[in-house]
Amino acid sequence: MRSNSCGDLRKEHISTAVTLCGWIDRCRDHGGVIFIDLRDSSGTIQITVDPDQGKEMFSIAESLRNESVLQIKGVVRARPLEAVNSKLKTGEIEVLASELNVLNPVRGNLPFTVSIHDEESIREEVRLKYRYLDLRRERMSKNLRTRHKTIRTVRNFLEEEGFIEIETPILTKSTPEGARDYLVPSRVCEGQWFALPQSPQIFKQLLMVGGIEKYYQIARCFRDEDLRADRQPEFTQLDIEMSFMNQEQILDLNERLIATIWKNIKGVELPRPFPRITWEQAMHRFGTDRPDTRYGMELHDINDIARSIKFKVFSNAVLSGGSVKCINVKGGNQSISNVRIKPGGDIFSEAQKVGAGGLAFIRVRESNEIDTIGAIKENLNEDQKNELLQRTDAEPGDLILFGAGETSTVNKTLDRIRQFLAKELGLISKENNDKNWNFLWVVDFPMFEFNSDENRLEALHHPFCAPNEEDLGHNPEIWSKQLPKSRAQAYDLVLNGLELGGGSLRIHNSDLQKAVLKTVGISENEAIKQFGFLIEALDMGAPPHGGLAFGLDRIMMLLMGEESIREAIAFPKTQQARCLMTQAPSETSTLQLEELSIKMDLKTPE
Ligand code: AMO
Repeated sequence: MRSNSCGDLRKEHISTAVTLCGWIDRCRDHGGVIFIDLRDSSGTIQITVDPDQGKEMFSIAESLRNESVLQIKGVVRARPLEAVNSKLKTGEIEVLASELNVLNPVRGNLPFTVSIHDEESIREEVRLKYRYLDLRRERMSKNLRTRHKTIRTVRNFLEEEGFIEIETPILTKSTPEGARDYLVPSRVCEGQWFALPQSPQIFKQLLMVGGIEKYYQIARCFRDEDLRADRQPEFTQLDIEMSFMNQEQILDLNERLIATIWKNIKGVELPRPFPRITWEQAMHRFGTDRPDTRYGMELHDINDIARSIKFKVFSNAVLSGGSVKCINVKGGNQSISNVRIKPGGDIFSEAQKVGAGGLAFIRVRESNEIDTIGAIKENLNEDQKNELLQRTDAEPGDLILFGAGETSTVNKTLDRIRQFLAKELGLISKENNDKNWNFLWVVDFPMFEFNSDENRLEALHHPFCAPNEEDLGHNPEIWSKQLPKSRAQAYDLVLNGLELGGGSLRIHNSDLQKAVLKTVGISENEAIKQFGFLIEALDMGAPPHGGLAFGLDRIMMLLMGEESIREAIAFPKTQQARCLMTQAPSETSTLQLEELSIKMDLKTPE
């Protein structure tokens, strides 16, 4: 249907007869001559329709609507000098049309303008409803091509390293990663359900037992959880697993993979090795296990000072087992007013969102005099004040913000405020130079965290992570005692405050696996019922193995400088886990439900 692609034509093609196909990006009538910008996936080219080349063709051109699909025949010629458009790759030439065929006219009203010339921002709901039109726009088309190029880079890299790609089942059994499952009823096995995989975790381990040694998959995962800008119910992992490799080797391989992606896609040479921090240090210094290290404003623990001062909010927090921590906002005395920190203020409300009751603060004045609202000032003696200022590296003009209470709330509060203020105070440089790609390995996670709602321990990553051998010891009789305080051989890769991926070495001993499941409250009977196939496999020659999974959509979001992973996915869902285009999820017929032996008992909506 065509001899060339629109965006590929250049000066060298002058005088060549071409046939092109594409969409009408826009039409302009310039007093007797009509200019059509014809767009295909390679770019756009200007088509000139002159009535001298045929009256019938000209009258077709007069009736064209944007986004209709067109085939044109004509000859490439140079544009007059004054009409050269240096912004377009094809801007030095145009095609003089001799024949126009409308392959499919646009009939309905277009909900928005697709044109490359149009930078109007369109509401996301409209973009998602008419995603096929949105995909024609430059932003999405570029994003999807970058995604493809990234996947190709990943495949080339891993295949050169001896990995093979294997697909694992989508209709499967629950694969615990901490979210709710999406369930699929079985028609044949009445009353029974498949779960869609939250990750290929168990299967990739079984592939290692199966002797594959080096596996990867661009794997679709499903998690029914609260959605955010960096979460989708259906997302893609770059999933990797390998046998007979230790943590150092796994981290090294993954760093090289990431560095190759950044080199190929951004042309950036990332400095390696990536910095590392233990989970404990990350929580201590940043209050989060995925710190943004592009800026400072780190947290300072002042429990020792707070314990002994008379200000009850502080001393009680420490005495009841919690913490008092603070951040120093450099120059904040000038830039941040009291109104913003006190109830009703925006900074206060950020703190409140993560459960803080309030924010104490100190303003550092000239000669290190301090000023506070409330009772901190009166209750700090000179030594305590000096120690505080020294520890927080405070100078006149600074503002110190405090969190006091349960340690996890204090961490969450100061982490949130730190991120909020970093954006506001412009501490994050916008330039995409290699200084701005702050990769960080967080290592030595604890095996478990306490779930206070359910009053039990739960796996911090998933219950297949191997514990640190030193912490666990070699005597199986004390494993159940040692496990709750053991670190895991687990690691996350963080980039600019976002968790890009995570993984671990895995348990390959069935007794240890049962002990870990027991620690998270799964009895031996239940363990056999849920994971019997895995436990059995571990006893049939499971090699030492480990791996990692990256969130591919998140990697793409960052590579493309987007704020939401929806921009990295062709057909994403909304925050309500809906597809606005197909209207899924939707009701289904009674017949279909009957076949599945499902009876609905829904409350009538009010
Ligand atoms: P984890 O649960 O940390 O580990 O997931 C790995 C990475 O997947 C991405 N991710 C998501 N991306 C978009 N939407 C979501 N809802 C979502 N949830 C997770 C994140 C995350 O770092 N089986 C283990 C990996 C392993 O141990 O090898 C796992 O799934 O970027």
